[in-house]
Amino acid sequence: MANEIRYHEDLFAGTRAQLIARVAQKISPKRLEHVLGVEETAVALAEKYGADVERASIAALTHDYAKEFPAIAFIQEIKSSAMDPDLLNWGNNIWHGVVGAEFVKRDLGITDPEILDAIRFHTIGAPKMDLLAQIIYVADFIEPHRDFPGVEEVRKIAFADLQEGVAAETKTTLEYLVSKAVPIYPKTILTYNYWVPRYLEGVNHHR
Ligand SMILES: [Fe+2]
Ligand SMILES: [Fe+2]
Repeated sequence: MANEIRYHEDLFAGTRAQLIARVAQKISPKRLEHVLGVEETAVALAEKYGADVERASIAALTHDYAKEFPAIAFIQEIKSSAMDPDLLNWGNNIWHGVVGAEFVKRDLGITDPEILDAIRFHTIGAPKMDLLAQIIYVADFIEPHRDFPGVEEVRKIAFADLQEGVAAETKTTLEYLVSKAVPIYPKTILTYNYWVPRYLEGVNHHR
């Protein structure tokens, strides 16, 4: 159970309850429920697949830390940290993970590279995601409050085969974006090209 986790790896200078309190200062109560759902799912996936449970908890609790930050904060951070200037052509959906990781590092003092990469990749994915990043990417999509067409299928797949879960989520996300005719962030397409053919091409039993 997530709420029994005691931090002892010094990845965050405080307890889990203190971390939740810091995050709660920046996000709405409804989003905090989502974040706690992601943590519950991430911890369950970490236990199943042998990932570090403390990292899973911390990455889950902080993945949406910057979700409600104003656009100007992201724009200033992109410029002052000399991040890819193309980021300025995108918006909160892309920024809150990719740029948000910098706020988690600065505000919360969390510097663990695995945790920060898991935050960076949680929306867009990446061709190279380690176990923790895969877990956070999937947990964000399937946590118990999520309720959209296809989520139950991805839940089942993710607890049977995590990599196939990453692929199924990516395919579902791309299908949704295409159906809405919205622009697709180029790195999301790189995620698709790496994961979806590798794990789903020729797999018919999920359709
Ligand atoms: Fe997010
Ligand atoms: Fe999220």
